[in-house]
Amino acid sequence: MNDTPTSPPNPPGANPQWGGRFVGGPAAVMLDINASIGFDRKLWRQDIAGSRAHAAMLAKAGIIGAADEGAIASGLDAIAAEIEAGRFPFEEALEDIHMNIEARLAERIGEAGRRLHTARSRNDQVATDFRLWVRDAIDGIDAQAADVMRALATRAAAHAADPMPGFTHLQTAQPVTFGHHLLAYVEMLARDRGRLADCRRRLNECPLGAAALAGTSFPIDRAMTAGALGFDRPAANSLDAVSDRDFALEFLAAAAISAMHLSRFAEEVVIWCSAPYRFIRLSDAFTTGSSIMPQKRNPDAAELVRAKTGRITGALVGLLTVMKGLPLAYAKDMQEDKEGVFDAAAAWALGLAATAGMVRDLTPDTARMRALAGSGFATATDLADWLVRVLRLPFRDAHHVTGRLVALAEAKGVDLAGLSLAEMQGVEAGITADVFAVLSVEASVASRTSYGGTAPANVAAAAARWIEALG
Ligand code: ARG
Repeated sequence: MNDTPTSPPNPPGANPQWGGRFVGGPAAVMLDINASIGFDRKLWRQDIAGSRAHAAMLAKAGIIGAADEGAIASGLDAIAAEIEAGRFPFEEALEDIHMNIEARLAERIGEAGRRLHTARSRNDQVATDFRLWVRDAIDGIDAQAADVMRALATRAAAHAADPMPGFTHLQTAQPVTFGHHLLAYVEMLARDRGRLADCRRRLNECPLGAAALAGTSFPIDRAMTAGALGFDRPAANSLDAVSDRDFALEFLAAAAISAMHLSRFAEEVVIWCSAPYRFIRLSDAFTTGSSIMPQKRNPDAAELVRAKTGRITGALVGLLTVMKGLPLAYAKDMQEDKEGVFDAAAAWALGLAATAGMVRDLTPDTARMRALAGSGFATATDLADWLVRVLRLPFRDAHHVTGRLVALAEAKGVDLAGLSLAEMQGVEAGITADVFAVLSVEASVASRTSYGGTAPANVAAAAARWIEALG
């Protein structure tokens, strides 16, 4: 930058941050398309933290004087206070948060402020700021995901033994317990958090000091700035450091997968609340009424959690498309990296908060779930398993016999336990009265003791493990 104290003043309208080379100002539309201050002002805390670390390092390395560093640090404090108080004069002509803060610093402290940009560029600055922002977002979202898990595990513990119909193809399959069903989402959320942790680990390298793209001739200490900003190490290649946004993509991919999980739970809430199911009830706190149909209680929060998946996945596809085919190193295309990430992070956070709220709010109708758990010949597999275990039939033959018994029960309008022993023996002569013991819903779930199965004892133990692990 040749904007030294002795430089001539800029031509009217020209960006004061690049001065000399320019004789005219930008077209109005150039300002509009170029400026990112409307959204990247969100990065102000990270930008100030980065500048503080950079200035301290410049002073330690003898690149700027200690007095300048002191002036920069207190100038940045004052700017932080201004922004916090909503008194900062954001200027679109200064394009982005980096130049807004730097220009304001120079305005406040003069020459020392104009030394801050030594040995750095907005390219390494924005890459650093954005990583710091995503890292904070990861930490916040991780805590929220843990909270949803805690809410689910707590309810799972209370309903470890309450049967509900388990579905495949949304057709009654086998009885499971409500607690088991809720814990399935706990596992999903645990993996979502694992993806966040992986993303955080790879993200945590510091681009600062890569400068524009090639590094710098100043004797900077990149390990010092990296350490001051909580990074594990400086990024090893200056071109890569300023030009990749894979950390944002990993965050969005983790967001899209988690949003998909949340949307499945939300969809189940919608189904469970519906009149034909009535498995659960949401209170007034999580439902809305209809302006025309007085009887309605709509699960809008669940529907919106389901719908947020669209914008989150959209942000992932959007940024993948921006990044695809970009030559190294920085290109202005990358300014399009932020809004989608900000929006997706907000939608993800809201979806998690609403999910935690609904999980804590809902009232399960355990009697109704229990009644429906036994409908639809849900214990047919238990009957087939009994034929294998007691009569030693090959499973395929047992499946066939059971199918005939189901057809018979269906024709008679009863469930399997409603068939008489004689009727059963008409299909398979070896069946004894003992078979009835396996046809109840309670016997069915209690028998599923295989690792990860729905037996109440398993579910209670798994819920207790999660509650303990989540603290
Ligand atoms: N506002 C820009 C962004 O968000 C900052 C970096 C600009 N760098 C540049 N060489 N024009 O990407």
